[in-house]
Amino acid sequence: MSITALDIGTHTIKIVVAKDSRSQAINKAVEIKNKLGLVAPKSDQEALQFAELISNLFHDYKLDQSDVRLSLPEYLVTSKVIDVPVLSDAELASAIGWQAEQSIPIPKNDLILQYQVLEKPNKKAVNATMKVLLVGSRKSLVEKINNVFLNIGIEATLLETQIFSVIRSLDIEANDPETIIVQMGSSSNDIAVVANNMFEFVFNSKTGSSLIDAAISQSFNLDLKQAEEYKINYGLDPNQMEGKLYQVIDPIINNLIIDLQKTMRFFNQNHPEQKIKRIALAGGPAQLKGLVEKISQNLGVEVLIAAPFAKAKGQVPELNQASYSVCMGLITRQL
Ligand SMILES: Nc1ncnc2c1ncn2[C@@H]1O[C@H](COP(=O)(O)OP(=O)(O)OP(=O)(O)O)[C@@H](O)[C@H]1O
Ligand SMILES: [Mg+2]
Repeated sequence: MSITALDIGTHTIKIVVAKDSRSQAINKAVEIKNKLGLVAPKSDQEALQFAELISNLFHDYKLDQSDVRLSLPEYLVTSKVIDVPVLSDAELASAIGWQAEQSIPIPKNDLILQYQVLEKPNKKAVNATMKVLLVGSRKSLVEKINNVFLNIGIEATLLETQIFSVIRSLDIEANDPETIIVQMGSSSNDIAVVANNMFEFVFNSKTGSSLIDAAISQSFNLDLKQAEEYKINYGLDPNQMEGKLYQVIDPIINNLIIDLQKTMRFFNQNHPEQKIKRIALAGGPAQLKGLVEKISQNLGVEVLIAAPFAKAKGQVPELNQASYSVCMGLITRQL
């Protein structure tokens, strides 16, 4: 028996198989291009194509089906931290539905709500509040994803919003600095903040890496595959192609930096005595040449690339390690 973690991205499907959640002993780590470009089926036709794709993956890579864990992209769920008066567990359980209605934009009959108390003051002081994390997902959508797997005989043991997997994979400790986590992808980026060892908020920014491919393709009249190769080979190197490539990529990265600046300001408004001190980048696009330097120069904070295999052993992949943060977070969750 082993754990199989799947991160189905619009560009690439990442799979990690590990012995168990504690040892982080890796049996297999693979990346496969997502030929469908979908992360969840919308129609019956797509569900069939999706099932075939997944079934082939399990067959081709001889994946263990006993403990299969899946991630949900942030743009299909809503995660929010709310402040509520200090309540007992039972009181919270009966009040949470109403609280969710106020802050989660998913109709009640389609909502799967999960919640977790993040912070609860010890004493019932006047005006004391506790922080509760709400995660809402669409029942109709989760069922569609689950059904694809059920149809090929697999019952997923875990479906988790990807940002929480990434945060777990970063192994953040109580005295670590206030950190922005950017889970980068081809279609979009999730930008989240963790401070005092606690999740603060997350939002989805449409500044995905495929925008760069499209811009290069258009500017240099290349097909998307060639454009992607230029991006990966040269990145933000101002010396390549007389600086012309840099001029195309730079404005797109500047939009990401604007989103990061907004995030820093928003956090600081809510915590005037605190500041973001660190940015952790995860996902394939985090590896863009020159990205770490550019962000740290612009924002004046430490920037690092996620190392999800830092504590792992066995068949750790040599390339693209930052792409596997979601998978490693799924693997290390104790069920
Ligand atoms: N070394 C690199 N430099 C720049 N970009 C890279 C590099 N390696 C991979 N990428 C880009 O990363 C993207 C793939 O990353 P990833 O697998 O994290 O995306 P995804 O999960 O499929 O996307 P999404 O989560 O948005 O659906 C592609 O756009 C690819 O071009
Ligand atoms: Mg992704």
